[in-house]
Amino acid sequence: MQKYIIKGSNKGVRGSVDISGAKNSCLPLMASSILFEDTVTIKNVPFVKDVITMCNLLEALGSKVQISEKNKIIKITNKKKHKLIIPYRLISTMRAGVLAMGPLLARYKSCRSAMSGGCALGPRPINFHLNGFKKLGANFNINKGYINISAKKGLKGNEFKFPKVSVTGTSNLIMASVFTKGKPTTLKNISIEPEVLDLINFLNKSGSKIHFIGKRTIKINGVNKLKGISHEIIGDRIEAFSYLSTAVMTRGKIKVNKINPKYLTSELQVLKKMGCEIKIKNSSIELNANKRLKPVKVKTSPYPGFATDNMPILLAVLTKVKGKSIIKEQIFTNRYMSAPELVRLGASISIKSNKATIIGKEKLYGAECISSDLRTTFSIILGAIGSQLSIVCFMD
Ligand code: EPZ
Repeated sequence: MQKYIIKGSNKGVRGSVDISGAKNSCLPLMASSILFEDTVTIKNVPFVKDVITMCNLLEALGSKVQISEKNKIIKITNKKKHKLIIPYRLISTMRAGVLAMGPLLARYKSCRSAMSGGCALGPRPINFHLNGFKKLGANFNINKGYINISAKKGLKGNEFKFPKVSVTGTSNLIMASVFTKGKPTTLKNISIEPEVLDLINFLNKSGSKIHFIGKRTIKINGVNKLKGISHEIIGDRIEAFSYLSTAVMTRGKIKVNKINPKYLTSELQVLKKMGCEIKIKNSSIELNANKRLKPVKVKTSPYPGFATDNMPILLAVLTKVKGKSIIKEQIFTNRYMSAPELVRLGASISIKSNKATIIGKEKLYGAECISSDLRTTFSIILGAIGSQLSIVCFMD
């Protein structure tokens, strides 16, 4: 268990920071390397825990993975045929391991994956992924904690509509459809998160034929082969919002670089409504929060709505914004794990089903806190930065 001792500051944060590459773009892009016979080079890689786990997963499947943390580059080469089993030891620590299913199915017509198991955010089924594969002609069964999927005759183009927007569901179905035979595949009600568009952009540069025919509808014409390329991934909008929120929490001033402000349209609107001064350029955002801020009402929704991953971060910020704020979490059922810890720091938060009511306070106090997932941890760290002396224990 890792432990952080955090001494809050009365001084506002000041300075500028370059934002890393997006974790949630890097993971599907790495999984898509399974589709290639040539080498794929990914640049601007954030070497966070999940990215290392994905490296281990690709190596377990038989890819050769070369990394340069200094240059933020990963090179993935597939000299031999992949193994077709996604092991429990890896998928149980990183749900995104499911992203290997689509490319394995597309290239080898079958795969076997451990079920990913429970998650701090609540139930995270993959029924949309599996039903989508089924529409492309695959069959699957579940046995002893493993999902066996096969399409003996290969995947065939078809139409599939997501009952609800799913980010990795969309990426998985896109990758499964790259080599389909017969009529094109049409995917409806897809996720248009910037990370998904980054994957589409990468695959199209490699020779795929994926194009939008509606706001949330794409058509994919199957191709025979992709050519290995080098691709620089987009900046991480959740990391960018985390840094901006640090300045808001401490009533400071910050500039975040290497991020497309368009990816944070909803978030910046909320910060402006709170009273923050915001200046944007092509790839930077400058924020000044050095004044009295106002409470807000926010609900999370798929992009371009307010991101659910940014919700725990905003929750922490609003604990020190005088007045009554309301947040409605509409994506996951159990995403307020930081609330009881923030209350330990002296915050006033009440949760009723998916709605949080926050009564902002002038001061927060120090306390010992414990955390679980990535975003919950940063929410608590933000609360600690806004309070006196805190100890945050992080279960790794
Ligand atoms: C992605 O998870 C992100 N992970 C999550 O970020 C993010 O919170 C989430 O999208 C929503 O934006 C990665 O990109 C690796 P979903 P994903 O499928 O794809 C339900 C982080 O901290 N659903 O869009 O797993 C599901 O239960 C992580 O970086 C089904 O019911 O989320 C949820 O309520 C946490 N059946 C909703 O849809 C399915 O088959 C959206 O989930 C799939 C999803």
